[in-house]
Amino acid sequence: MATATTDPVRLPPGPRIPKLIQTTAFLISSHEMFATLARRYGSNAVRVNLPHNNDAVVICDPLLAKDLFSTSSDIVERAPSGAGAIGAVFGPGSTFSLAGDEHRERRKLLTPPFRGKRMQGYERIIEEEVMREIANWKQGCEFTTAEPMLRITLGAILRAVFGADGPALEELRELVPPIITLGSMLAVCPPMVRRDLGPWSPWGRFLRERRRFDAIIASLIADARADPAVEQRADVLALLLQARYDDGEPISDEHIADELLTLLGSGHETTAASLAWALERLSRHPELLSELAAEADAGGSKLRQATIWEVQRTRPVLDGTTRRTKTRIRLGEWVLPKGTNIIISIKLAHESENDFADAGLFNPYRYLGAAGKPAAWIPFGGGVNRCVGAAFAYMELDVVLRMLLREFRFVTTDAPGEKARWRGVATVPSRGARAMVYRRNAKSPKGVGSLSAVGNR
Ligand code: HEM
Repeated sequence: MATATTDPVRLPPGPRIPKLIQTTAFLISSHEMFATLARRYGSNAVRVNLPHNNDAVVICDPLLAKDLFSTSSDIVERAPSGAGAIGAVFGPGSTFSLAGDEHRERRKLLTPPFRGKRMQGYERIIEEEVMREIANWKQGCEFTTAEPMLRITLGAILRAVFGADGPALEELRELVPPIITLGSMLAVCPPMVRRDLGPWSPWGRFLRERRRFDAIIASLIADARADPAVEQRADVLALLLQARYDDGEPISDEHIADELLTLLGSGHETTAASLAWALERLSRHPELLSELAAEADAGGSKLRQATIWEVQRTRPVLDGTTRRTKTRIRLGEWVLPKGTNIIISIKLAHESENDFADAGLFNPYRYLGAAGKPAAWIPFGGGVNRCVGAAFAYMELDVVLRMLLREFRFVTTDAPGEKARWRGVATVPSRGARAMVYRRNAKSPKGVGSLSAVGNR
């Protein structure tokens, strides 16, 4: 754990090259840049100079990441440079806009609806969303799986989290994707772009869509309030409406709307990207794929769980997360001044050879027989800001993969793996995780299921 200190500042090493060149390297590949610097300096942390991140410190080692995650939020908080912009998009009532006691109190209300044991209740919804999506999948035609995965995870959140149904659900299905795309673009733009310069300006357009979103949420809230069986409802909206802070006050309707947009923005594309990566990986690992199908048929789940963990380790959809020091702190051998922006590299933590032997290999079997995952496995971050929706995301990944494995035979390929591409919120397979499938209950043409190349068509 990091501690407050008055010791002299001791910053990690970093390049002296101009900020413009560092920014260019960062934009080309932040991961390559951080990995190269970590290697060059042989250090567990490096210093970089980037826009909005002067003298930021990149954490390259899982031990230091763990120290930061377990540090009190009185001395280290979520970095406002990135999260502040996200908060501007989600609104002042979003978890991303809250800090200190306000954040702690909100997490107390937000966490119970996402606890592991509640998740079973949502499985049926996910199954229905998968069935709806795969009903029209064509056999023997190559297609990108990323889009169907986005539709599944959108439907899942709208129904399980928003409790949406009927016309409201259909309107949200159509309204949400452009809001998320525009919002995530605006979150990374300089603050001047987030100004309302009329209905055609990006921020003006965002606000207009946001008002439509808020009107639908207001009607969902009104329906829930009027529902005599609201106490039996399991959706997150109904649970948040009934939740009370320690002083007995409810969460205001405006804050509930901000929070629902937050859950959507954080949970929809991230989970869809992980699913797309899972399919991208599985179609390149024929033996694993057969074992997984056999396991799913037999009602097992251990290898699937290990596969999900390994997909998330080797293809984390968020490369990192951020923190900022509220006072001077000692972190390992470093002493960081107040106001230091810190980037915790999830991707570098996952490449740690000390924690994952042959870290470059995709090998789900590494977890079987082990006591679990090493602490260096941090796709959901850690500490007081750890992902609220981790159990929901895991349940969804598990249910979708189980169903796809039971329903389809995926044509495997020896084509090179798809590269990673950043898509506004998450890092996705660059070609959309292309796949070709046959229904397992249909007669497969000759050769399908063996190592037949889908290729780079
Ligand atoms: C595979 C899917 C997902 C991944 C990889 C992921 C990853 C993350 C990461 C890395 C963070 C930052 C944690 C930190 O700074 O320590 C985070 C925060 C968050 N995630 Fe997720 N997430 C996923 C799915 C979800 C889902 C399904 C939801 C909700 C439905 C969700 C809601 C949130 C929220 C609200 C936060 C902010 C927590 C806070 O600051 O208190 N995420 N997530």
